Amino acid sequence: MGVRKYNEYIGLYTKSMQYVFKLEDDLIRHVYFGEEIPLEDFELEKIQEVSSNDSIYDVAKEEFSYHGKLRFKETCLKVEFEDGTRDLVLKLKDFKVDEDYVEVLLKDEHYKIEVILKYKVYEEEDLLARCIEVKNVGEGIIKIEKAFSFELNLDGLGYYINNVGGHWGKEGVRFRQQVGYSKVVLESRKGNTGHNNNPYFIIERDAEEDRGEVYFGALEYSGNFKIVAEGMPYGYTRVLVGINDFDTSITLEEGQSLALPTVYFGYTKKGLGEMSRRMHRFVINKLMPINFNQRIRPVLYNSWEATLFDVKCSEQIELAKRAKEIGCELFVVDDGWFGERNSDRAGLGDWYVNKEKFPQGLKPLIDEVKALGMDFGIWVEPEMVNIDSNLYRNHPDWVYHFNNRKCTTARNQLVLNMTLKEVQDYVYSVLDELLTQNDISFIKWDMNRPFSEAGALNLKDKRSVWIKHTEAVFEIVKRLREKHPNVHFEACASGGGRVDLGSIRYFDQYWTSDNTDAFDRLKIQESYSLIYPAIAMRAWVTDCPNFLTNRIIPLKFRFHCAMMGTLGIGGNINKWTDEEKKIAMDMIEEYKKIRHIVQFGDLYRLSSIEKEEIHSVQYVLKDESVVFTFLPRQNYSKSKFRIRLKGLELDKRYKVKIEGKEYFKSGAYIMNYGIDVELKGDYASNAIYLKYE
Ligand code: DGJ
Repeated sequence: MGVRKYNEYIGLYTKSMQYVFKLEDDLIRHVYFGEEIPLEDFELEKIQEVSSNDSIYDVAKEEFSYHGKLRFKETCLKVEFEDGTRDLVLKLKDFKVDEDYVEVLLKDEHYKIEVILKYKVYEEEDLLARCIEVKNVGEGIIKIEKAFSFELNLDGLGYYINNVGGHWGKEGVRFRQQVGYSKVVLESRKGNTGHNNNPYFIIERDAEEDRGEVYFGALEYSGNFKIVAEGMPYGYTRVLVGINDFDTSITLEEGQSLALPTVYFGYTKKGLGEMSRRMHRFVINKLMPINFNQRIRPVLYNSWEATLFDVKCSEQIELAKRAKEIGCELFVVDDGWFGERNSDRAGLGDWYVNKEKFPQGLKPLIDEVKALGMDFGIWVEPEMVNIDSNLYRNHPDWVYHFNNRKCTTARNQLVLNMTLKEVQDYVYSVLDELLTQNDISFIKWDMNRPFSEAGALNLKDKRSVWIKHTEAVFEIVKRLREKHPNVHFEACASGGGRVDLGSIRYFDQYWTSDNTDAFDRLKIQESYSLIYPAIAMRAWVTDCPNFLTNRIIPLKFRFHCAMMGTLGIGGNINKWTDEEKKIAMDMIEEYKKIRHIVQFGDLYRLSSIEKEEIHSVQYVLKDESVVFTFLPRQNYSKSKFRIRLKGLELDKRYKVKIEGKEYFKSGAYIMNYGIDVELKGDYASNAIYLKYE
């Protein structure tokens, strides 16, 4: 149905949700978010203050709160006008209702500022989108101290917010925290999304994988974000989402406007699984770059863990040959190929090929890779510079800095001031040249430190640097993609520091984590899967003992784990035994047969090692399904498990292939009674393939 209006009530409708708000002159009131009910039934009472201390504005569930009048609660917008006035008084001026779009125009009763609330309905995808635009339509400047894109007001208290904590190598540690009468703040202040919290919210009271009400949403932004959740004394719960106001402000000159990032959000009664599947489909079909979003991802080889900075043309050629033998389709040279990059202490910024490592340039390696029938990819970290580099020696003023302060290095590097036109031109031109002169199909774009001393003294609006940095980076990626449409891009920031909906508009996949230990990965990948799709999750099989955990895990388990995303190999395959290479060859061949189901199918988290002995994840695409099961640790003699699958068709007969055996069972049997799997010994794993005739 899209959008409906009844009196002052506006209803937004998707396949399974209804979102209602009411237009009042002084207040846009949130009314309802849930399953559909007739719009005609809503009759909001006039809002009453509780006391002189508890104003109508704090009592009301507002669709868009701003700092002004008797508002003491957290608000979405706070501005200062040129004369020092910091009080907004917005009135409803107009609205537009289209079949899948609503715009509400608010204007200050005196000052020349307009705020436009924009809603878009994705009926089929079962999601809504919301964003806000703030316009300066008059004389004088307006300073925006805070501008959030979104707020959600839910009836009642006692909700929990779910997100992740963690750090480098430990991304995605799930947590669930009660939202009481104080604020829960999730945020990044690092310049990128970072490894700690992630820019999404999942709000529920008692939801599980397949049941329970869930309100969820994610911000299309890559940078400092902030999510505030709070229980109000007036009996409702709020969630506000937007660009972090930490050290940030924007000045709008006359005629300028600020478009804030969109939040995609939804509601379901069917638990976390339904939420994830909806988000995955949406991200693939509506956000990811369209030239690759429907294409199967190649099996990749990446040289990082094998050779680190010690990159040599001849050794890379050997790796490429082995990669081809086992079935890889894309060969990627990671860090260490350029400048004087023999460690992380030097070379960043000098994007010319290191002549000692590649005496004849990249050509011999690329020619060999192409002759082997693979594509070639390369690593870059364009936003950064080592102090020990020609770039820094020639342009010490190209980094973020403050006067009279020394810049602090992290990983021996500084952040380039991407808001400078000359830096943007430099970065674009070196990458454009790299892509023009070489047959490159894949770029891994890394970013290995957050910002500090974030001074962009060139900017009139100095505190807009946090926003302008990522804008400049993504603009360069966009221009490169336009000029080199056959190149696909991976977003990496020391592992998973750029996993968000902002980057996925420009990049085709994320590097999820530098932690490649298959046991830890089960947890990292599980939390990743709450919002982000498997097709965008690069996952490598690397060597054991694992460099981070020292754990030794059988190759088959490592493969099965990485096969749950887009498979890559990251070990030193020059050293793999014939037996290991045979296993790799078989597993890659198997992956190629099922990867369309993983990359484009619906994901079901059947059981998690966070709660149970075995971990199992299922993917379903039309008549096919694949299930991966893992037993990290056998308990006593128990090696037989029955798992009940999901998402199949009850009345179809499926051919079930497991450990070389085949049999037929109905979808009803498989989903209600379950199928038996045997997992014997520590780190046992298997893949089950199903298809109906
Ligand atoms: C961090 C990335 O996450 C790694 O995969 C690797 O590319 C290194 N940077 C290279 O410096």
